[in-house]
Amino acid sequence: MSATHNSVSNIREYAIAVFDSGVGGISVLKHLHALMPHEPLIYFADSKHAPYGNKTPAEIQARCIEIADFLIGQNTKALVVACNTATAVSINLLRKHYTLPVFGMEPAVKPAAEASKNGIVGVLATTGTLKSAQFAGLLENYGRNVKVVTQACVGLVECIERGELNEPATLRLLEHYCQPLLDEGADTIVLGCTHYPFVRPLIKQVVGSNICLIDTGAAVANHVQNRLASLNLLSNNTQTAPVKFWTNSVARDAKRVIEQLWEKPADVTAI
Ligand code: DGL
Repeated sequence: MSATHNSVSNIREYAIAVFDSGVGGISVLKHLHALMPHEPLIYFADSKHAPYGNKTPAEIQARCIEIADFLIGQNTKALVVACNTATAVSINLLRKHYTLPVFGMEPAVKPAAEASKNGIVGVLATTGTLKSAQFAGLLENYGRNVKVVTQACVGLVECIERGELNEPATLRLLEHYCQPLLDEGADTIVLGCTHYPFVRPLIKQVVGSNICLIDTGAAVANHVQNRLASLNLLSNNTQTAPVKFWTNSVARDAKRVIEQLWEKPADVTAI
């Protein structure tokens, strides 16, 4: 066990730590910051090891433990795994290994099944997420009364890591991946990877405005807030709190991509 927090008196002023295989989890960070601007946030982008989607569960678990150890060393009161792929294979391990609250993400199959009018739901996600036992469990629990069509989006995370949100090559990739869902008649599409909300406008362009797109960033932020409130772990701070970014990206323009996605100047440290 690497983290014990209960004895720390000012733990409410500790940060909520968020991480992803790269910059995609910034889509979740934005919801957390919008909902809880007084909470200090730290974000770790494991861009050097992105994408996680084609790694083995053991490789992803090792990354998660290394990153969590680093983040917990930065005065952290809660951990948000802002990655569907990492959550699918590591959330149980992380919850066993650490005593602090650990939150994860999963593709929004349940809300999509409820939102779909024609009972056909498409899911865009990574290969790792779609192959996971957790995803099979989601389908078992919430996908029984709808037809669920899945599509792994190989190469899309890499486009977003490069900040290519509006490039013709990204558009072509999305056309390629969305068409099978449209052919099956999906009226609701789950963005089952935290990178994908950054290309939501492009996806809309491809699928049209009648298709409902669903991701879980806002729901996760709400859940984090409610749970921290129930644990008496919300900050007493009344000022807007700092948001600090860490990246291990080898790209020289990591700060540019982070600021492009965060949509304002960012405090970024490369390690
Ligand atoms: N943002 C991660 C997710 O939600 C991307 C995984 C990857 O790096 O392949 O699944």
